Amino acid sequence: MTNNKIVVSGMRPTGRLHLGNYHGALKNWVALQKDYRCFFFVADLHALTTAYDHTQSLAHNGEDMLIDWLTAGLDPKQATIFIQSDVPEVSELNTLLGMITPLGWLLRNPTYKDQIQELLARKYAGQLAGDENTPLAERVKGLTDEDISSFGFLGYPVLMAVDILIHRAEFVPVGQDQTAHLEIARDIARRFKDIYGEEVFVEPKPLFTSVAKVPGLDGHKMSKSYHNTIELGEDVDSVRKKVMSMYTDPNKKKANDPANPDGCVVYAFHKIYNPNHQTRCAQCKEGALGCVACKKELFALMEPELSAFNERRKIFEADKAQLAQMVAQGKEAARASAAPVLLAAKKAMRIIK
Ligand code: TRP
Repeated sequence: MTNNKIVVSGMRPTGRLHLGNYHGALKNWVALQKDYRCFFFVADLHALTTAYDHTQSLAHNGEDMLIDWLTAGLDPKQATIFIQSDVPEVSELNTLLGMITPLGWLLRNPTYKDQIQELLARKYAGQLAGDENTPLAERVKGLTDEDISSFGFLGYPVLMAVDILIHRAEFVPVGQDQTAHLEIARDIARRFKDIYGEEVFVEPKPLFTSVAKVPGLDGHKMSKSYHNTIELGEDVDSVRKKVMSMYTDPNKKKANDPANPDGCVVYAFHKIYNPNHQTRCAQCKEGALGCVACKKELFALMEPELSAFNERRKIFEADKAQLAQMVAQGKEAARASAAPVLLAAKKAMRIIK
């Protein structure tokens, strides 16, 4: 470890990870664990903020995600890996920080508004106004659902602030979509100091690393809800079919038509898997190569890495005892880190001496 700075990040257990999660976040975590004191956790309480009524696969999804993490190279010897709900200190601090968080901060949070729209769109799929090109805000106009927005859902950023502040993390590797949340975490830390006069928490900063942008098969953002993913650990024959069905430049009709690689999904993947992607870019522009050949080559480049992942994953999957041991150790280490900070917060608030 090159420094003692603390990094915290979590992922919601929504099922098997896809290549977007891998290249966009997980690979970066694997690199960070070498340089920082890292805490990585399964954000199962956060999953409950929207999925409170379908919890049957929550634990299983968490386990699957942990296996993906280990297979990708997260190492419990280097990082503290744990399950959020295993750390009761988190829920306790959540209650306390909830008391000092102004409602307006949460209601104004842009992610909150966006997520409500997405949840409505999912719930009313098939009954929405307009078409795919109509902004979501318009498509869901007039739709309301009392079940969608719970107290916990509105309080999502408080819980996320707790995850971070409770370990006095200095850095949080997050995507751009999470910056508003992180800002609220900083605001809560500052407000705590303003009210109680003690600097219990550290203001966390985002850690933006340049990560690869992975589009879905259809060119939209890769996401489970768009059904355009390639899963980590997916059978390679299935991946082959998906690669062969990727969107390319629609203006390229014949194999030797010149085309534009920007916006081509196959090329976006070449940028990740092909060290000579610049040559490929030039060939594409000149019309020197057809899309089918380009796709075949891409799959040939991806296949060894994906197969190796699948083989490695089987080993971690088979060793449930090792996984349980890691989760137990992670829990102890995370609690040991959280407990003194919770105590300091309670003292500052004068609810204990
Ligand atoms: N909000 C994050 C997401 O949806 C998950 C998360 C929860 C998180 N708590 C966190 C990320 C703390 C970083 C730090 O992806």
